[in-house]
Amino acid sequence: MSAESTVRPTEVVVDARPLLDAEAGLLALAVWPDDPSSADGDDGDDGSPWIGPGGAEVAEALGLDLFAALERDGGTGKAGEVVSVQVYAEGRGAASVDGEVDVTRVLLVGLGDGSAAAYRKAGAALARAARGAERLASAVTATADDAATRAFVEGAVLATYALAGFRSTPVPEAKRPLGTLVITGDGARADVVAAAVAVAGASWTARDLAQTPSNVKDPEWLAEQARRIGAEHRLDVRVRDEKALADEGFGGILAVGQGSDRPPRLIALRYDPPNAGPGTPHVVLVGKGITYDTGGLSLKPREGMVTMKTDMTGGAVVMGVLSAVRELGVDVRVTGLVAAAENMPGAGAQRPSDVIRQYDGTTVEVLNTDAEGRLVLADGIGYAVAELEPTVIVDVATLTGAATTALGRGHAALYATSDQLAAALREAGEAAGERLWRLPLVDDYRFGLDSAIADVAHIDTEHLGGGSILAALFLQRFVGDVPWAHLDIAGPGRAESDKGELTKGGTGFGVRALLYWLEAGAPVG
Ligand code: BES
Ligand code: MN
Ligand code: ZN
Repeated sequence: MSAESTVRPTEVVVDARPLLDAEAGLLALAVWPDDPSSADGDDGDDGSPWIGPGGAEVAEALGLDLFAALERDGGTGKAGEVVSVQVYAEGRGAASVDGEVDVTRVLLVGLGDGSAAAYRKAGAALARAARGAERLASAVTATADDAATRAFVEGAVLATYALAGFRSTPVPEAKRPLGTLVITGDGARADVVAAAVAVAGASWTARDLAQTPSNVKDPEWLAEQARRIGAEHRLDVRVRDEKALADEGFGGILAVGQGSDRPPRLIALRYDPPNAGPGTPHVVLVGKGITYDTGGLSLKPREGMVTMKTDMTGGAVVMGVLSAVRELGVDVRVTGLVAAAENMPGAGAQRPSDVIRQYDGTTVEVLNTDAEGRLVLADGIGYAVAELEPTVIVDVATLTGAATTALGRGHAALYATSDQLAAALREAGEAAGERLWRLPLVDDYRFGLDSAIADVAHIDTEHLGGGSILAALFLQRFVGDVPWAHLDIAGPGRAESDKGELTKGGTGFGVRALLYWLEAGAPVG
């Protein structure tokens, strides 16, 4: 068994030649809803959709009436709608255009309002419709700008994510991702497509890590994956084992890990951009890496535990991000910290009411061992502040059920100590298709973390409610005056079903938002 998905993501190539020269068995064309207000060159404002560039040539070469096909299937050009047109030629199964490759199907893909979000949806829907095929040539992005082309390609590569390492039989042909997606048209830029492929690949990496079951995945396994990623992408990787953690005072990570016989790790991956100098900003990302969360002695109820192999998604996101920064030409330093532990109720487990000492010296009264994420993060954040000279810290964690209660699965909760940082992350998320919604760090709630015997309690002792906010307030104690943002991804970190570019299970939510933000130079304000 291996964490490596043996299913390969769709390869994406750029080809400036016309669609019909791309030697593909499948062709894809854009469909736009009728827009009476624009001079779109179709035959009037009759409410019928129109077909984008390449349509006339394809229809003529293959002898198809594409408009009739659209009408027959009720195609409207809505974003993410796909109408599949079978190609028949006399006496054979498919029409041969260039004498070599038979075109079997033409896929008509709706682009709705033409926004990047619509292109992302379209890419995802097209990729699902093209599962099992070898090669598809697309003119869907013929008139798209760079942002839309990126969204389209990212959607296409992400929508057919699959982890195959845990089946005894190969994934059936019909469920495999499309082999090669050919982006045609003069406008398509290879660097834009390469960036999209890098971002989507980073999300695949995060999903692989999150989907791997926890009988395989323990903290040392995660460290091994980090070493592999580091070797592949030229990152410095340093792993602290339980002995190093004890020597250096990582009391939070150790306390959470002590109930498991699979010891905790602190994993650090570091990227230095090619032209780094003394003034180069240093972004530190801290991910929650709980490889399984039983709740510890404050045991979770049985239904609530089943999905907890994905409780290291924050760490997986950090690893995914680091795997792509070099390829994306990010020009700030980035250190990724993954605070990895397994939260188990073993004989050595911490007890509710224990007092522990975090890396920065803060003493914490642990009143509920199921609120373990903030304890490992506090050590990671405290270490970053003390040792790494960060210009900004962003942590990512499946931290609280309360965040899901507040925002559902569509938005992550975002907290930040600066308005500009919050705005920059929110915008990056919006562009990348990962929505972040800012929640407040409410001053008046801080007393809820008062402890009768230690510096602080790690959960709300005053029944204030606002569980995601209280967790954020706890973390904020450790950031000092370093600009800081916190993403509580408990909701969007998992998808309940395949939808758009998401696939059921771990989503790797945060990879795209953070990479877009880093590509923009990690603005802090
Ligand atoms: N990993 C969970 C949060 C979580 C719950 C993520 C459901 C995804 C889905 C976290 O460690 C946890 O258990 N949080 C507690 C905190 C509480 C004890 C203060 C929670 O949210 O109930
Ligand atoms: Mn927990
Ligand atoms: Zn947890």
